[in-house]
Amino acid sequence: MTTEQSIKPGQADGAGPGGRDVLSVTDERTGRQYELAIEDGAIRASELRQIKVSEDDFGLMSYDPAFLNTASCRSAITWIDGDKGELWHRGIPIEQLCEHSSYLEVAYLLIFGELPTKEQLDAWVFDITTHTFVHENIKKFVEGFRYDAHPMGMLLASVGALSTFYPDAKKIKDQHERYMATIRMIAKMPTLAAFAYRHNLGLPYVYPDNDLAYPGNFLSMMFKMTEIKYEPDPRLERALDVLWILHADHEQNCSTSAVRGVGSSGVDPYSAVAAGVAALYGPLHGGANEAVLRMLDRIERIDNIPGFLAGVKEGKERLMGFGHRVYKNYDPRARIIKKHVDAVFEVTGRNPKLDLAVELEKHALDDDYFVDRKLYPNVDFYSGLIYEALKLPPAMFTVMFAIPRTSGWMAQWQEMVDDSEQKIARPRQLYTGGGPRDYVPMDQR
Ligand code: CMC
Repeated sequence: MTTEQSIKPGQADGAGPGGRDVLSVTDERTGRQYELAIEDGAIRASELRQIKVSEDDFGLMSYDPAFLNTASCRSAITWIDGDKGELWHRGIPIEQLCEHSSYLEVAYLLIFGELPTKEQLDAWVFDITTHTFVHENIKKFVEGFRYDAHPMGMLLASVGALSTFYPDAKKIKDQHERYMATIRMIAKMPTLAAFAYRHNLGLPYVYPDNDLAYPGNFLSMMFKMTEIKYEPDPRLERALDVLWILHADHEQNCSTSAVRGVGSSGVDPYSAVAAGVAALYGPLHGGANEAVLRMLDRIERIDNIPGFLAGVKEGKERLMGFGHRVYKNYDPRARIIKKHVDAVFEVTGRNPKLDLAVELEKHALDDDYFVDRKLYPNVDFYSGLIYEALKLPPAMFTVMFAIPRTSGWMAQWQEMVDDSEQKIARPRQLYTGGGPRDYVPMDQR
């Protein structure tokens, strides 16, 4: 088994000559030996607690900053093989989903575990389409932001605010409430995103058009002006749908872990998803697509690439849109996006930054620094070029990631709520402070 992949149950068990799924360890401090059960390619960290130097010792802990080698849950939703560059949702390769499916069908697959029948899909799409409106007070709430507020900040606040409109969502074990929260969240996210965009421009908000498909309705809420009916270009709609399939879920990444971690307190799913939006906002996660465009703007010309890469190698900055915690090969999502770039440019005209990006990728993939560290383009390297061609400002790019990731967050949240092994997330620490010491009154300091 390679290291850079999701752990697949059973794959790594019983491999040793003894044929026993056991890890034998000797504690050289005491000379005692222990046997730790190996299950699904992992040992339980809490098993280490039996390893003690004395009766009152707390027991051994594992130290794993940033969870580099710790599985925090069992999950049947998404599989990644980082070495091969493979991604499956509920067992189906992402390439097949992008070719044959729609974003809403993939959302159903993530949440319910199976592809829907025609009737199930129709009902699902109907339920989502008829929950796209938000309460009028949400509109007033968004109006309260400054004209130049970052749309991710507005999205974060308005998703959190949704929990106050649907207080029954806190009944997290109630299947009906859970379904309603899932529908509402997927349905309203594009509306909140479009309101944030129009707010920045000082334009009136456009209400959802329920005659349109999910991506077409989003384009209408973003770009409709004086026309009676907005008619989305089907090629753009399809490109957006594929982009959203690609972003729908990605197992235990930073934002998903935030949703699970916050959700483990038993809070309602709107509040848990708001935590996911906050995590996604960061430049090392979903914020990278915005950072890529800003980086390309700074590099400006192909002949500036070597100088820019020299700075990256000196550690002055990062090549945004490159590298991944799990993928040590080409991110399959980046490969698919690259193919769709041309389809979008056919409608919008070619984005001249594409040549710069392609050249930057070539230079990096030819350079030992990136080759040795297995740094390849990730999903964010090319997605921004499409968003820019759609005339979106860079600040909206991460919002475009948050809209589809909502289905993944909700699927992961539901799996967590139903998992009898899960408890409130509460890591341990290695205390490095001093004490105990006495409080010093102010006049003696
Ligand atoms: N540019 C230059 N060097 C890099 C980069 C990069 N983009 N990414 C990693 N490295 C170097 C890093 O300096 C380190 O080198 P050394 O071993 O000499 O110290 C080595 O590669 C390993 O990096 P790391 O930081 O230990 O890797 P990580 O798994 O902690 O970080 C990452 C993963 C995605 C945060 C990182 O690759 C990165 O910052 N990339 C740029 C931001 C980006 O594109 N993020 C989007 C990720 S994909 C979409 C998503 O999931 O949000």
